[in-house]
Amino acid sequence: MTVLRIVSGSANPGLFSAIANHLGVDSYGCSLERFPDGELHPTIEDVCGADVYVIQPTSPPVNEHFVELLLLLDACRRSRAARVTAVVPYFGYARQDRRTGPGQALGSPVVMDAIVAAGADRLVVVDPHTPALEAMCRIPVETLSAVPALCRELAGDLPEGAVVVAPDLGAVKLAERYAKALHGSVAVVRKQRESGSTVAALDIAGDVSGRRVVVIDDMITTGATIEAAVEKLRAHGAAADIVVAATHGLFVHTAVNRLRKLDLRRVLVTDSTDVKAADAFIRVSSIAPTIADAIARLHADEPLDNPAV
Ligand code: R5P
Repeated sequence: MTVLRIVSGSANPGLFSAIANHLGVDSYGCSLERFPDGELHPTIEDVCGADVYVIQPTSPPVNEHFVELLLLLDACRRSRAARVTAVVPYFGYARQDRRTGPGQALGSPVVMDAIVAAGADRLVVVDPHTPALEAMCRIPVETLSAVPALCRELAGDLPEGAVVVAPDLGAVKLAERYAKALHGSVAVVRKQRESGSTVAALDIAGDVSGRRVVVIDDMITTGATIEAAVEKLRAHGAAADIVVAATHGLFVHTAVNRLRKLDLRRVLVTDSTDVKAADAFIRVSSIAPTIADAIARLHADEPLDNPAV
């Protein structure tokens, strides 16, 4: 069997170390030089003939981390790796899966094509914003999910039968997966985005009055979606102890303060991104065991244990 190598970009060293620990393999880091004009210049250790997994979420700063990923993939290919898998736990640009007006670009396939052109033979993602990602991609995409791990944590925080709230229509399928695991029901907020950092919650479908609720989403960016959903839930009489769970905690701008002001019981995210704000309120559940297990199985050409699709 070819030797397994995991290579880390700079986006999330903590997750990389945790994955390496779970796999029981040495971390093959890379050195990252930054030229005075801002160009990135990564150098990897020898991966000739190896089955290589490059771990790099394209979290903020998205474009920096994305270009670094491309350069790492290219370095692996030029070093004659036998197979290169891009492990992108948080996949930036996935929200640009359709055009909403004339003159716009379609970001997701552009990013996908670049990853393939740079040398990836396969892509691994975790709860991507759109399931359409796979259809846009010319290489195999393995989709993992943080829902089982997050539900194990949530089970301690919520009574059986809690209401899982999708804060917009796009999150309904995800909410159904949480509800199945938590033996709960689903309610849906109708959301209208007003700007990059403001949204309006128009109404709620489903009964939340007096009920314990968990608001779920694939990602928290500015916190606007969660804020609007929580305010609407309160207006509809949901029980005070609201929990929030999302796979990817990007927490840009003032997101953390915004969430703290909502008087929530807890916000639960994974370490798919390098969450700096983790504490008793923003709790981080590690996705490393899920990714490590997937890498081990892919390396052994075995089926994945619990793929999202
Ligand atoms: C959008 O449809 C996504 O699923 C999230 O709801 C959104 O990206 C969250 O962004 P924000 O926290 O800025 O509202």
